Order: sequence, then structure tokens, then C-alpha cells
Amino acid sequence: MLSSPFISNLQVLPLCLIFAFCLCVAAITTTTIMATSIDDEAKALHNSQWWNGSPISNISNHCEWTGITCDANARIIQIAPPFNTIYVGDKFGKMNFTAFPNLVYLSLVGIGLSGNIPSEIGMLSKLTNLDMSYNHLTGELPVFLVNLTQLDLPDISSNNFTGAIPDQLIKSLRKLSILDLSGNNFNGSIPWSIGEMINLTQLNLHSNFISGQLPSSLENLTQLLALEIGQNSIDGVIPYQPKNLKKLVTLDLSFNKFNGSIPWTLGQMTNLTYLYLYSNSVTGQMPSTFRRLTNLVDLDVRANQIGGLIPLEIENLKNLVSLDLSRNSLIGSIPSTIAHLTKLEYLELSRNYLIGSIPSTIAH
Ligand SMILES: *[C@@H]1O[C@H](CO)[C@@H](O)[C@H](O)[C@H]1NC(C)=O
Ligand SMILES: *[C@@H]1O[C@H](CO)[C@@H](O)[C@H](O)[C@H]1NC(C)=O
Ligand SMILES: *[C@@H]1O[C@H](CO)[C@@H](O)[C@H](O)[C@H]1NC(C)=O
Ligand SMILES: *[C@@H]1O[C@H](CO)[C@@H](O)[C@H](O)[C@H]1NC(C)=O
Ligand SMILES: *[C@@H]1O[C@H](CO)[C@@H](O)[C@H](O)[C@H]1NC(C)=O
Ligand SMILES: *[C@@H]1O[C@H](CO)[C@@H](O)[C@H](O)[C@H]1NC(C)=O
Ligand SMILES: *[C@@H]1O[C@H](CO)[C@@H](O)[C@H](O)[C@H]1NC(C)=O
Ligand SMILES: *[C@@H]1O[C@H](CO)[C@@H](O)[C@H](O)[C@H]1NC(C)=O
Ligand SMILES: *[C@@H]1O[C@H](CO)[C@@H](O)[C@H](O)[C@H]1NC(C)=O
Repeated sequence: MLSSPFISNLQVLPLCLIFAFCLCVAAITTTTIMATSIDDEAKALHNSQWWNGSPISNISNHCEWTGITCDANARIIQIAPPFNTIYVGDKFGKMNFTAFPNLVYLSLVGIGLSGNIPSEIGMLSKLTNLDMSYNHLTGELPVFLVNLTQLDLPDISSNNFTGAIPDQLIKSLRKLSILDLSGNNFNGSIPWSIGEMINLTQLNLHSNFISGQLPSSLENLTQLLALEIGQNSIDGVIPYQPKNLKKLVTLDLSFNKFNGSIPWTLGQMTNLTYLYLYSNSVTGQMPSTFRRLTNLVDLDVRANQIGGLIPLEIENLKNLVSLDLSRNSLIGSIPSTIAHLTKLEYLELSRNYLIGSIPSTIAH
């Protein structure tokens, strides 16, 4: 599709002198880029075949296609088809992303993307949002993503990415406040450079194949509210330095290979609300500092080898709604003070060496 300025310039071309000819060509070229870029964008959308099967055939109003937003100059700034509105499958690479130099927002959630991330995405330098969660993407996280320095909240959770979490990528994303790589197949250990992401408030690596020990650089992440690394193969002791993570509300270390005892420093995270240590190899006793965790709503340490008595101070945890200490090596009698936990709705103490019964006030 040629624009009218292009044609009219062609018509005046023969009238130009040799000297002026170059100027004319320059003018034509400029006009062509300006005029056909919009056209290129439309063509790129059309050629992607992503919208095949949806009731769209009109290339001239591509700014109105499902999930497309243009600016006042009809340039595409946002591609965000709502969840499940189109199905892309293996056609991710068919989209010519270089045609969208103005793109700032790319949200491709749950539209069946498969294969690798096309490298052209690394050239979208204005991109602030990149969400590719809930797809079937595979391969290693491409290093070209380091070029996307404007990214604010990238989300690639719930895909099938493999390989190690690239150290270089973590460094380039160090200003992020949220990093969600959960629900993939990442392996290797958590990179040391994670400690440079000092503004992180949420780190979610849940459900991967991450191994090794927690890097001590984690202590740098003093703004963290949620640390979710459950369902991996992380081993070693639960580090003492979490004492720096005083703001934590959610700590999920479940389904890993942590051993050693629960550090008493956990008691300094007084805002902890959700604490999941279940299904590890934690030994020792419940530290007495637990009594300070008065904001706990859900405490689940089941399936470890925690011994000793259930501390009487359990009664301090007045906000507990759910308490699971089952499948450990706890001994002694069930403290009657548990009856003071008036918000408790779920209590599971089975498969320990406890004697006595659950106070009748809470045994429903
Ligand atoms: C395509 O869209 C343009 C602009 O909105 C409109 O003028 C034209 O009639 C449409 N053509 C068809 C075949 O719907
Ligand atoms: C992709 O778009 C760019 C810019 O519009 C264009 O130069 C290039 O030829 C396109 N590539 C393909 C494979 O269509
Ligand atoms: C990842 O791959 C596994 C098996 O290869 C498959 O069962 C699973 O559904 C895939 N997950 C996603 C989100 O595509
Ligand atoms: C990243 O940006 C640099 C400098 O702008 C460029 O040279 C390089 O080719 C880009 N890398 C990729 C993979 O896009
Ligand atoms: C962290 O946030 C502060 C305050 O918003 C900002 O000044 C600083 O540059 C940020 N640090 C990084 C590494 O982005
Ligand atoms: C991670 O997985 C890849 C295959 O995806 C494999 O080649 C590599 O050895 C694994 N690394 C570790 C540390 O297990
Ligand atoms: C901790 O953060 C500082 C910036 O505040 C940074 O210079 C340092 O490298 C970080 N330490 C680790 C271990 O990542
Ligand atoms: C705990 O949470 C409260 C309420 O959100 C907040 O005011 C307080 O600063 C938090 N304490 C810490 C140590 O972050
Ligand atoms: C914890 O496990 C690591 C390796 O997985 C081992 O080296 C260490 O001795 C164990 N520590 C305890 C206290 O069992």
C-alpha cells in the first residue's frame, strides 16, 4: 500500500535537476518511512497470523484489533490481548516485533505462546511492561533481555523456561521491585547478584528445580515483603541473616531440603504473617523467639524432624487461623494454652509423640 505523498513525489521526480534529484530522493525516503511505518505495523500484525480465527480481516483499522492500542499518531504502543482471546501457539516468532519501535507495553498472558522468546523483543528499548506469564515458553532466559532497561514489572512466571537464572540478567534488572520466575523449570543456584536487587519487595522462585544453598547476599534485600522459594531443591541450613529481612510478611521455604534448626532470628521478623517451612529436614526445637510472631495467621512446619515440646507461649500467636505441626518429633503434652487461640480454624498435630488431647474448646 503506497501512500499518496509517495506517488506525487514520484510524479515530480522527472522535473528535478541532477543536483535536486538527491534532495527529492531524500524527501521521498523520509516520506516513505513516515507513511509506511504505520503500514508496516499493520502488516506485521496481519502477517503474524495471531488474529486468524478471530473476526478480524480489515487491515486498515488495525488499531482497533483486540488488544491493540495506538497513540494519537496511530503508532502501536501497546499489545495486550486479554487472556485467552487469541491463541498464538508456535506463531510467536511470526510477529515482526521490529516493526513496533514505539511499543511500551507488551502483555501476552495466557495466549498459548510456545517456543523461545524471539530476539527482536530485545530491541524494543521503550518497553516498560513485559508480561509473558501463563504460556508454554521453553529454552533458557535470553540474555538479550538485558537491553530492556526500562522494564518495570517483567513477569515470565508459569512457563517452561529451563537452565540457570542468568546472573547478567539479574544485574541488569537490579532496580526492579518484583521478580517472579515461579512455575518454570529453572535449575542451578540462586545467583549471588540477587543481593544487588536492593529494592525488591517480592521474590518469587516457587516451583522450579533450583538447588544449592541460599546466597548470603540475600541479606541485602531489606525491603522484601515476600520471599517465596518453596517447591525447589534448596539445601543447607536456613540462614541466620534473615534477621535483616525484618519486613517479611510471607516466608515460604516449603518443599526443599533445608536442614539444621530454625534460626532464633526468625523471631525478629515480627510482621511475618505466613510462614511455611513444611516438607524439609529441619531439626531442633521451635525457638522460643516464636512467641514474638504475633502477626502469624498461618504457620505450617509439618513434615520435618522438629523435636521438643510445643512451647506454652504458643498462646501469644493470637492471630493464628491455621496451625500445622504434624509429622514431626514433638513430645510431651498438648499445651492447654492452645485453647487461647480463639481465631484458630485449622489445627493439625498428628503423627508426633504427643500425649493428651486437644482442648475441647477448639476440638470441633
Ligand atoms: C476497513 O476499515 C476502514 C477504516 O475503519 C473502513 O473505512 C472500511 O470500510 C473497512 N473495510 C471493510 C471491508 O470493512
Ligand atoms: C520487519 O519490520 C521491519 C520494520 O518495518 C522491516 O524493515 C522488515 O523487513 C520486517 N521483516 C520482515 C521479515 O517482514
Ligand atoms: C511444561 O512441560 C511439562 C512436561 O514437559 C508439561 O507437563 C507442562 O504442562 C508444561 N507447562 C507449561 C506451563 O507449559
Ligand atoms: C543490546 O543493545 C546493544 C547496544 O544498544 C546492541 O549493540 C546489541 O546488539 C543489543 N543486543 C541485542 C541482543 O539486542
Ligand atoms: C532503589 O530505590 C531508591 C528509592 O526509590 C532509588 O533511589 C534507588 O536508585 C533504587 N536502587 C536501584 C538499584 O534501583
Ligand atoms: C540445568 O538443566 C540443563 C538442561 O535444561 C542441564 O543441561 C544442566 O546441566 C542443568 N544444570 C544443573 C546445575 O542441574
Ligand atoms: C548489597 O547492596 C549494595 C548496594 O547497596 C551493593 O553495592 C552490594 O554489592 C550488595 N551486596 C551483595 C552481596 O550483593
Ligand atoms: C510492619 O507492618 C506495619 C503495618 O504494615 C508497618 O507499619 C511496620 O513498619 C512494619 N514493620 C516492619 C519492621 O517493617
Ligand atoms: C545439611 O545438609 C548439607 C548438605 O545438604 C550438609 O553438608 C550438612 O552437613 C547438613 N547439616 C546438618 C546440620 O544436617
